[in-house]
Amino acid sequence: MENILSRADLRTLWLLGHPVRHSMSPLIQNAALRHLNQAIIYQAADVSVEDFESAVHGLVALGAIGANVTVPHKEAAFRICHQRTPRAEAIGACNVLHFSQGRILGDNTDGSGWWRGLTDILGRTVPEKAVVVGAGGAARAVVYTLARNKVPEIVVLNRTLERAETLVREFLPYALTRCYVRPLESFPEQLKPDCLVVQTTSAGLDGGSSPLTLPDRWPAGAVLSELIYGKETPLGKAVKALGGKVQDGLAMLVYQAAESLALWLDRPLQEIPAELMMKTARQRVSVVRSEHQDSD
Ligand code: ATR
Repeated sequence: MENILSRADLRTLWLLGHPVRHSMSPLIQNAALRHLNQAIIYQAADVSVEDFESAVHGLVALGAIGANVTVPHKEAAFRICHQRTPRAEAIGACNVLHFSQGRILGDNTDGSGWWRGLTDILGRTVPEKAVVVGAGGAARAVVYTLARNKVPEIVVLNRTLERAETLVREFLPYALTRCYVRPLESFPEQLKPDCLVVQTTSAGLDGGSSPLTLPDRWPAGAVLSELIYGKETPLGKAVKALGGKVQDGLAMLVYQAAESLALWLDRPLQEIPAELMMKTARQRVSVVRSEHQDSD
């Protein structure tokens, strides 16, 4: 294959975040770009909070096509846009920027990517009830998406109750049915058969324990969806030990990436090789896991 790096018409896509060293986005996006025979490369840049705005303006000046934006810049990305999609507007954060004729367009594909990933595990069935743990930025994308997809009952549990209340109040116009707040301690009572539990917090990842008390039995058919990939959370481990189904954030990562690419390339989503991106991501995860086991 021709070396695209030497092409004068080479264009660029970026991931802006801090940190970005362990991100799989460049790997999966470049696999898709190669498959689609595009003279485009996707590169990660570690950008500080102070430098974020000038970095984006620099990319616009350089003629980049766009960027994905990750922690901690999604709200700053929202603010920098000239124009935003309705879903980005509702969520209040952008994970995709598209540069066009000097203008910055912002979208949010986190929620829709996460929802598409869920169909891999739930099929097309919409759960009757969703229990969302956390009320930060990630929970905003999730609650908005659940409401848009007409999940009849949504309960948000959070350590700081007021934060969950603010979130629910904001999304009530999108929710057709019940959307309410409960304290974190009520987790076991909130579970019911076939419900969907979404863990959006990073709690417990730094070696601490899960902030949730689990019931003695995991309800039949209930599924835990976590937004984190590559690391098992204490909650994920505990639910698996009770025989529950758990999905990590890998599918969300892949499908939000596929949707970003469709936007940048102005192609229908069906033309983006999401399966190849998923296969590439899974292979990488298994290599990283086996390296960890070797070093244990
Ligand atoms: P993000 O944008 O990734 O969602 P965030 O906005 O900082 O990150 O939100 C983090 C979420 O994790 C919040 O819901 C937070 O609870 P509070 O609103 O009470 O702060 C939750 N969280 C973080 N650490 C936690 C812990 N140790 N126990 C319980 N909840 C925790």
